[in-house]
Amino acid sequence: MTDVDSNNISNEDDNDNNNFVNANKQPEDNYKVTPWEVEGQIDYNRLIKEFGTQPINSEIIRQFEKITNEIHPMLKLHYFFSHRDLDLILHKTENGEKFYLYTGRGPSGMVHMGHLLPWIFTKYLQDKFGSKLLFQLTDDEKFLYAQDRTREEIKHYTYENILDIIAVGFNPNVTKIIIDSVHIKYLYPIAIEIAKRITFSTAKAVFGFSSSTNIGMIGFPPIQAAPCFLPSLIEGKATPVLIPAAIDQDPYWRMTRDVAERMGFYKPAQIHSKFLPGLGTSGKMSSSKPETAIFTTDEPEVIDKKVSNAFTGGQATVALQRLFGGNAIGCPVFWYLRYFFDNEEESDERFLKCTSGNLLCGECKSDLARESKIFITNLKKRREKAKDYVEKFMYDNQPYEI
Ligand code: TYM
Repeated sequence: MTDVDSNNISNEDDNDNNNFVNANKQPEDNYKVTPWEVEGQIDYNRLIKEFGTQPINSEIIRQFEKITNEIHPMLKLHYFFSHRDLDLILHKTENGEKFYLYTGRGPSGMVHMGHLLPWIFTKYLQDKFGSKLLFQLTDDEKFLYAQDRTREEIKHYTYENILDIIAVGFNPNVTKIIIDSVHIKYLYPIAIEIAKRITFSTAKAVFGFSSSTNIGMIGFPPIQAAPCFLPSLIEGKATPVLIPAAIDQDPYWRMTRDVAERMGFYKPAQIHSKFLPGLGTSGKMSSSKPETAIFTTDEPEVIDKKVSNAFTGGQATVALQRLFGGNAIGCPVFWYLRYFFDNEEESDERFLKCTSGNLLCGECKSDLARESKIFITNLKKRREKAKDYVEKFMYDNQPYEI
């Protein structure tokens, strides 16, 4: 691999003592990563230190490879770059112990390509490790977070998002979707046990809550923590859980890990991804900037338009581009192609051609638009079929009433 990926991450010690890094104090303030806001140019190496996680280093990749006989591109390309206790999960697997997967979605809008990346990797893990999966939809969180959002809107997105989740291809026999407002009775007994062990002062430090935060938000985190322990209740014994997600969700797990052992459970393990960038000048792909996000329901013309308007690392003119080359590292189109559609060799070649002035932005944009349209067209077909399977995926096997 070339030095395309700037993450030559050194081996750091896990540091759960860093649990309560103050969410209000972001490192040097040129980026921000919380469960609700991700902004600026993120320094992922610094985030590992700041959050007290461990880097995904060659040792853990080898441990993975020993079990899976291959290295998934998202690991090889350092898209998943950080973890907590992944080594323990792999160790337990080697000793024949099964683990659950747990991931989720806050249904505040339609699903975009960024959301899909951790889910695609979760499906890979499910297939490889034969794991049961809990998939939580935090409709409560998303209702509480935005004052102007109605329950009806959230209900609509919850259903639409379920179709995307099913379309990813999770195994219907071992995957259960939990919608907080619908399946609360399964979460609540665990959530109140967690809530009782966390002070407001800790919640403020972890999540950045202030006096103007509504009390629903303040009470919410134990609901997202509860599925970490649900597998132990389902299985009737302490059961390990691995959470694949982007790193923005980490504050929830820091809090959960702190109470786990006191409650007689394993600390939940995590594997953290970076963010798929939006197609604008900076920041992650986000539903709140729809013009720079590709949604799973976008029509081909819309995808063409969004990609054609995308920011790139190109020079102002073709002549300058040929002379100085482009800035692939700062180009969302490059990263989007690298993480989603190019294989490692293609991507490394694209990097070299771009930076040496032998590739123009139009070509990359046309590759991205073409591949995204093919991908979304196929996903849409699976979304349609998913309508017949909603009930099968529900935690209680009941239909989801919309
Ligand atoms: P939400 O809906 O914000 O995000 C859903 C998942 O997508 C990840 N993500 C991204 N990944 C890559 N690139 C991006 N641009 C990008 N934007 C979002 C998020 O990290 C997440 O994995 N509170 C949660 C819902 C939830 C959850 C969970 C998520 C409940 N339980 C367990 C992960 C694991 C939320 O609002 O996610």
